[in-house]
Amino acid sequence: MDLAAQYADIGGEIRDAVTKVLGSQQFVLGKEGAALEQEIAALCGVRHGVGVASGTDAIILALRAIGVKAGDEVILPPFTFVATGSAVSALGARPVFADIDPATFNVTAAEIAKHITKNTRAIVVVHLYGLAADMDPIRELAKKQGLPVVEDNAQAIGATYKGRPAGSLGDIACLSFYPTKNLGAYGDAGMITTDSPELDARLRTLRNHGQSSRYNSTEPGWNSRLDEIQAAILRVKLRHLKEWEDARRNNAAQYSKLLSGISELKTPHVPVDCEHVFHQYTIRAQRRDELQKFLTERKVGNAVYYPVPLHAQPIYADLGLKPGSFPESEKAAAEAISLPMFPELRAEQIERVAETIAEFYGK
Ligand SMILES: Cc1ncc(COP(=O)(O)O)c(C=O)c1O
Repeated sequence: MDLAAQYADIGGEIRDAVTKVLGSQQFVLGKEGAALEQEIAALCGVRHGVGVASGTDAIILALRAIGVKAGDEVILPPFTFVATGSAVSALGARPVFADIDPATFNVTAAEIAKHITKNTRAIVVVHLYGLAADMDPIRELAKKQGLPVVEDNAQAIGATYKGRPAGSLGDIACLSFYPTKNLGAYGDAGMITTDSPELDARLRTLRNHGQSSRYNSTEPGWNSRLDEIQAAILRVKLRHLKEWEDARRNNAAQYSKLLSGISELKTPHVPVDCEHVFHQYTIRAQRRDELQKFLTERKVGNAVYYPVPLHAQPIYADLGLKPGSFPESEKAAAEAISLPMFPELRAEQIERVAETIAEFYGK
């Protein structure tokens, strides 16, 4: 990921936007944040957006808003960034893991169904790497069981499922604007999207010290707000998001074409009814660790998201989940490797990455 290339393109626009905020001397809960909330809600196909301080806070506050409490069970995939789980733990709730579909890396309705108990209070679905999970069967199951669905949409802003945007596919959804995300701030920031006016009102209270009106705190809340400078920067970047995500898709198509002859690899699967936004371009590779070493030695950027599934993390040792508990997540953790991916990536850079991989496999 090369953020400098992006800044070289849009630096002027960004500096103008920041200068405007500095001139206004309004830094928290102002016009930029409110405008960004509306623009992101529109992009996600819902009525409300609530800016918060990070993607992790977005998940904590979303869970809190839908009523998750200490002792409740929350179902989520173990193959995700740790924040999805630690947000559940932050509320004193218990993460209950459900395995993934090996083709998409996303959690499935069939796996979720295996783990529903009388203590289940919510389902968190992660749209990993920029591809929406298969949401219709998950929604159907959740409806039958009377459970709310939270989307961890940290990696999939702009993605679509059956023509509908990620962020509108559950009851409430959580975005991260961490700098390396497809829409990244210049610091930490996040947002919650929802079509529910009740959840919107509750979230506005929770993110601002539990105040339903000024100096009237009706429940214990947080200080978790998206500041005006970050909002102004994000609004500039939002104008470019579509063009950047098209570029990511073109880069992905080029990688998949160049790598298609290597039988030791699986390139990303994109279901016909989904539009992937390639936050990551992640392949499955035989001898993944050796390949990673080979690429690193040749100065080809790469990363493993995520080498240790959540059930194998030390923080969840007390859940007593042994290796083999979630075989598809464990296999994904052993085989997945992400290649350089950002909009400004050039064709010759993609060719060099593909050639180095071909060399490793002796092609
Ligand atoms: C899947 C997923 N969930 C949650 C988060 C947490 O977001 P943040 O870093 O903004 O707290 C991230 C990104 O870091 C993520 O990739």
